[in-house]
Amino acid sequence: MKILILNGPSLNLLGKRNPDVYGNHTLEDIQAALDKKAQQINIDLIFAQSNHEGELIDTLQKNSSCDGVIFNPGAFTHTSIAIADALESIDIPTVEVHLSNIYAREEFRSHSYIAPIAIGQISGFGLSGYLAALDLINEYLQNKND
Ligand code: DQA
Repeated sequence: MKILILNGPSLNLLGKRNPDVYGNHTLEDIQAALDKKAQQINIDLIFAQSNHEGELIDTLQKNSSCDGVIFNPGAFTHTSIAIADALESIDIPTVEVHLSNIYAREEFRSHSYIAPIAIGQISGFGLSGYLAALDLINEYLQNKND
C-alpha cells in the first residue's frame, strides 16, 4: 500500500511559523512520526511539499497510482478550484488534514474547496492529526479491498 503525504505552501516553515497556531513540530518531525507509524503498519509513504499550486497538481498527477493521499493544502484549501479539480480527476481516496482548527479562526478559513472531494477531514490536532489520518485511510483502504 502506497500513500502520498502532500503538504502545501509555507508548511516547510513549520516550527518557526506561528508556533502559537501551528505548534513547535517541524515538517521533518511530522514526516519522521509518520514514517515510524507507516513501518509498523506496513505502508510505503511518499512525501512532498510545495509552495506552488501547479507543482502540487503535478505531484498529484505524477502519483496517481498511489492508494491514498493525506493532504494539507495550506492556504490553497480556501482558494484553489484547480487543486480540487486535480484531486477529483485522479480520484484517489484523500484525507484532508489541518494542524489548526480552521473553523475556530478567520471566517475565510472555514471554507474548503477540498472537503467535498475528500473522504474526510481532520482539523485542529497538530501532528497527531496526520497520524490519525494514516490510521484512518489505512482502515478505509483495508475495508474497501475486503
Ligand atoms: C493550515 C490552515 C490554513 O488555513 C493555512 O493557510 C495553512 C495551514 C493548517 O494546517 O492548519 O497554511 O492548512
